[in-house]
Amino acid sequence: MLEQGLLVAFPTETVYGLGADASNPAALARIYEAKGRPSDHPLIVHLSPQAELEHWATDIPDEARRLAQAFWPGPLTLILQRAAGVPDAVSAGQSTIGLRCPSHPVALALLQAFRQGQGGIAGPSANRFGHVSPTSAQHVRDEFGAHHPLIGCILEGGQSAVGIESTIIDLSRLQSHGPVLLRPGKLTAREIGDVLGRTVTMPDQSAPRVSGTLAAHYAPATALALVPGERLDAVLAALAAQRRRIALMHYSPLPAVDGVAASTVASIRVQADPAAYAHALYANLRVLDQAAADLIVVETPPTDAGWEAVNDRLRRSAHDSSGMLARMLGQQAV
Ligand code: TXA
Ligand code: MG
Repeated sequence: MLEQGLLVAFPTETVYGLGADASNPAALARIYEAKGRPSDHPLIVHLSPQAELEHWATDIPDEARRLAQAFWPGPLTLILQRAAGVPDAVSAGQSTIGLRCPSHPVALALLQAFRQGQGGIAGPSANRFGHVSPTSAQHVRDEFGAHHPLIGCILEGGQSAVGIESTIIDLSRLQSHGPVLLRPGKLTAREIGDVLGRTVTMPDQSAPRVSGTLAAHYAPATALALVPGERLDAVLAALAAQRRRIALMHYSPLPAVDGVAASTVASIRVQADPAAYAHALYANLRVLDQAAADLIVVETPPTDAGWEAVNDRLRRSAHDSSGMLARMLGQQAV
């Protein structure tokens, strides 16, 4: 199917991808069409462990080889200078390319079978643009239907272990900017900096564009508000007093407050552990989004080390509904 230019959805350890032959511009165009993704957003190319980096990237710094050695197969994407001959559409016309070797066994088997392990599979997350990323084959069917005309098949691979997208490190401007973290993920800037022996910095204005870093992204259809634990009881009570339908995700124990139980149409208590939280995050958001609530209320996660990626995704999920909670509560001080 990949050789015929069809899309193949496949599991990875982070989220499910919507794959296409990275050397076929017509196949790449189908990714943008199926996702409704703006054509100026570059794609990540997935490679097998045997693939030749030189086929895809040029001016590859030693730092890239060290990170690949340390973390591939795994949830790390490296931005490098794109090699000549790789279609423009892969990187939406930018001179760089995002590369990653995933560790999910089904992804590895697919990559090894495709052109004897030398092919590249361009794959964004298998969701419609701006939506919550899929962490199961069922989520992909929920996004695109079971029989989408552009999607040849959806490979089954269980639930994605990591649950949020890969960490993205820009090494394409190493000389001038050093290694730059474009998107936080399970692998932290500190772990990456430890391997490189230097500090990984945060992006500046001229850093490459990353759609996963748009202020609004990863968003459920229902409005979502982040509420700190210390305000949670008061906010829930105020919403309940207005008979609002609440879908709740929290990790702190909640005392029973009058009326709140009746207003809470869905409730998930998550573990206060960043890996477990990330693993379940998108599936939980999908469940809460199905509850026909007026508002998804999420207890703001801790801000300790290890929680950066979860907080990053939740902030973007909440962005489009910022102000919604304040409007609902009006003058009520809580
Ligand atoms: O974990 C992941 O990375 C998943 C799985 C399927 O591998 N993929 C994923 O793809 O999250 P996508 O397209 O949803 O997000 C990839 C991000 C986008 O924000 C894109 O802008 C950025 O990577 N990206 C890709 N190539 C780039 C490049 N050459 N320069 C800068 N950013 C790039
Ligand atoms: Mg995505």
